[in-house]
Amino acid sequence: MNKVIVKICMGTTCFVMGASDLQELTDIIPEKYGDKVEVYASTCLDLCSSNTESQAPYVTVDDEIVSKATVEKVIDVIDRKLKNGQK
Ligand code: FES
Repeated sequence: MNKVIVKICMGTTCFVMGASDLQELTDIIPEKYGDKVEVYASTCLDLCSSNTESQAPYVTVDDEIVSKATVEKVIDVIDRKLKNGQK
């Protein structure tokens, strides 16, 4: 079974725009999903330069970009991917 891969951008723009609050996902995700989901803190995902800064912070869930990411938004995307049986 493939895992869902979550990357939390910790680049400067995202960090300043609130990614520091997303760090708790590195605790929440393993507790909630065990080994079905892997979570990483990432350096700049190169999304802040191709989009307007106001969309930061960015998180990716597999190939899906979550802009203006919050803990709730990211959990919703993970739940949807797991529920859709994509994994
Ligand atoms: S700092 Fe997050 S995408 Fe660049």
